[in-house]
Amino acid sequence: MLTIESHVSLKPYNTFGIDANARYWVEINQETDIQTLLQLTDFVDTPKLILGGGSNVLLCHDFNGLVVKMNIKGIDVLREDNSHVYLTAGAGVVWHDLVMFCIERGYAGMENLSLIPGTVGAAPMQNIGAYGVELEQVFESLTAINIHTGERRRFMHADCQFGYRESIFKRELKNQYIITSVTFQLNKQATFHTRYGAIQETLAAMGISDANLSVKAVSDAVIHIRQSKLPDPAQIGNAGSFFKNPEISQDQFDSLKESYPTLPGYPVYDGVVKIPAGWLIEQAGWKGYRSGDAGVHTRQALVLVNYGNTTGDEILALAKRIQKSVLEKFGVAISPEVNIV
Ligand code: FAD
Ligand code: EPU
Repeated sequence: MLTIESHVSLKPYNTFGIDANARYWVEINQETDIQTLLQLTDFVDTPKLILGGGSNVLLCHDFNGLVVKMNIKGIDVLREDNSHVYLTAGAGVVWHDLVMFCIERGYAGMENLSLIPGTVGAAPMQNIGAYGVELEQVFESLTAINIHTGERRRFMHADCQFGYRESIFKRELKNQYIITSVTFQLNKQATFHTRYGAIQETLAAMGISDANLSVKAVSDAVIHIRQSKLPDPAQIGNAGSFFKNPEISQDQFDSLKESYPTLPGYPVYDGVVKIPAGWLIEQAGWKGYRSGDAGVHTRQALVLVNYGNTTGDEILALAKRIQKSVLEKFGVAISPEVNIV
């Protein structure tokens, strides 16, 4: 049974805490609800916004269409072999709950992705990543339904065209598919990724050495670092990194480094270097900036925040000013990671 509601406030459903309304609202609890929904003739041509945890969207106005909130739950272990465990999770499962499910059972691969907000169904959208690991490293396949035809399709790894904070669902297939479940391949034998950021120091401070390293210890360290660095949306509205870290040519990096010797850079592949947008934004003088209730976080310049009652348009206007100023100062274009609605 599907219930379509009208005029629903989206404020509790986006981590920016933006007060926008949905003209219509429906919650999807199982895959068959989607088939039912797509057969409702009154809503065939209505624009649709698929929503998970709302932790990577900026709502710039009321949504004059149907918001489809994904609640499909369930984690099922499908099969295992000598090296791997395969499991499927519903699109509405909270990402961190899935990570904890794996850690409790010693399944390895997701521990560096602990505490990323949002749902399983949204995770492939931008190939979520943190602390040197990306979703694609544990991704096997996903199931999605075409929003126009109702066709059910399985996408394998190669079909998704994953990149840094990218997939085909953010590009060619944007707004075409509703992801209903994702299948993961976890490892029985862990390969630890502890070189990134402060993981090693944090493990050492926790009294963990190579001898007693575990997926649980890495997860605990990542959680500790994230809690110390990133603002909690329950305290202050935000959507994590607002911009992606730009990738520039080695030549441009070398010439910037002459003017700015402290500029950090990480080689991505031959001739291309990724540089931290947070550093550029801070050096351009924006860290801690506030205009009304829109601001740049005081400890992490890559995170734009809502101090209370700002609007999506005000955040977007601030983002554009930051982009312009970074481009003028460094000649580097930064683009949003957050989905602007
Ligand atoms: P939503 O915000 O609801 O949706 C995001 C996009 O996906 C929208 O375009 C939406 O239409 C679409 N979508 C959602 N569900 C589906 C579905 N089932 N089918 C089709 N389309 C769908 N991201 C990282 O990668 N790494 C991080 O370290 C990280 N840290 C963060 C820290 C904080 C404090 C916050 C607030 C965010 C952070 N993020 C991070 C961003 C965010 O957590 C991820 O992008 C997450 O995957 C978004 O999930 P969601 O369910 O909230 O998606
Ligand atoms: N930095 C500054 N000033 C700042 C913020 C950062 O100089 O205000 C510098 C830091 O000193 C460091 C570098 O920028 O040298 C990188 O900072 P950090 O380790 O905090 O990571 P980030 O690049 O800001 C990225 C991801 C995060 C992810 C972390 C950890 C992107 C866009 N962001 O942030 O993902 O959690 O690394 O892996 O790639 C997200 O996508 O929403 C997100 C939070």
